[in-house]
Formats: sequence, structure tokens, C-alpha cells
Amino acid sequence: MEFLQLLHQRHSVRRYQPQPVPQELVSQILEAIRTVPTAGNFQAYQVYVVRGPERMQQLAAATFDHGWVAQAPLALVICTDAARCQYDGPEHWALQDASIATTIAHMAAASLGLGSCWVGAFVPQKLAEVIHAAEGYIPLALLTIGYADEQPQSMPRRDVAEFVHEVE
Ligand SMILES: Cc1cc2nc3c(=O)[nH]c(=O)nc-3n(C[C@H](O)[C@H](O)[C@H](O)COP(=O)(O)O)c2cc1C
Repeated sequence: MEFLQLLHQRHSVRRYQPQPVPQELVSQILEAIRTVPTAGNFQAYQVYVVRGPERMQQLAAATFDHGWVAQAPLALVICTDAARCQYDGPEHWALQDASIATTIAHMAAASLGLGSCWVGAFVPQKLAEVIHAAEGYIPLALLTIGYADEQPQSMPRRDVAEFVHEVE
């Protein structure tokens, strides 16, 4: 699908069919993450792949009332890894690196015919325990992924004129 068309057709998906996501598609999403631009090319992110009902249940328990997370067959937990960044204030850069990694994973999933949802409503420390995150890796986003079992409505957006400010 053409990229701009994909942007307009993508929605956050929160209901999934139970079937697993084929490893080939998981690999393509991880390869897509690999391509992202990062500050100084320090690639200050880490990604944990989570599968299976028990672990997904544990992920859901680390969120704020997002029980539906447990129904997803797969999730990525994208973490900042500030130690990789050699700029001053590395956390600032790592947040941006992990954010674009999450964005591209979300878009790659859509382009592969998968639904996904970026979940930020969790307790980072709890999530880090579930995934056994290494020291210094701080969860930024939980991305549930699977075959959609809903057709979400388009959410409203501001008109371009409402957020664009021409600098004279
Ligand atoms: C940084 C970020 C955090 C988000 N956190 C959550 C969340 O915790 N729970 C949730 O259900 N959706 C979450 N979302 C998804 C948004 O609710 C969703 O993108 C927004 O409502 C627009 O809907 P759409 O993605 O279908 O266009 C998050 C999205 C972003 C970018």
C-alpha cells in the first residue's frame, strides 16, 4: 500500500483474533525498526518481544486497566537505552529514538495487514519486571499486535490550519 494512503487508513486496534502472528511478519516489523533514523545514529532503543497468554496477562496487569492487552497474541515493549547515546542529556534523545521505533513498528504492522495499538498507560517499573528488562532499559511503549477483530472508527483530527503556524 502506498505510504500516505497507509497513514490515512491506519487505526489503533484493541481487539484481536486469537491466531498467532507469523514469525515472518514479526521479523519484518523488527527489520523495519532497524531502519529508523536516530539521534547521532546511536540507536538508543531496545525491543522486547512478548508472546503467549501468560506473559500477555502479566503485561496487561502492568497497565492501567487495559485488560484487553491480554487478548493480543503478541506485543513489543520498546525501551529507551540512554547508555547507547553519547550526547549530553541522553535520556532526551533516547526518548525520541524509542518513539520513532514504536511509530515505525506500528506503521509496519499496518502495512503487513496487522492491527496494533500503542499503549503508554503502564507503570514502567512493573513492565520492566515482566519482561526482565536489563539495567537501564526503560519501557517507553507497549505495542500490541495481531490480526484485527474489529474495524475501528476514524478518530477526529484537527484541521491542518488549527496546528500550523506560519513564521513571518
Ligand atoms: C504516545 C501514545 C500513547 C498511547 N497510549 C494509549 C493507551 O495507553 N491506551 C490506548 O488504548 N491507546 C493509546 N494510544 C492510542 C491512541 O489512543 C490513538 O492513537 C488515538 O486515540 C487516535 O486513534 P487512532 O490511532 O485510531 O487514529 C496511544 C497513542 C500514543 C501515540
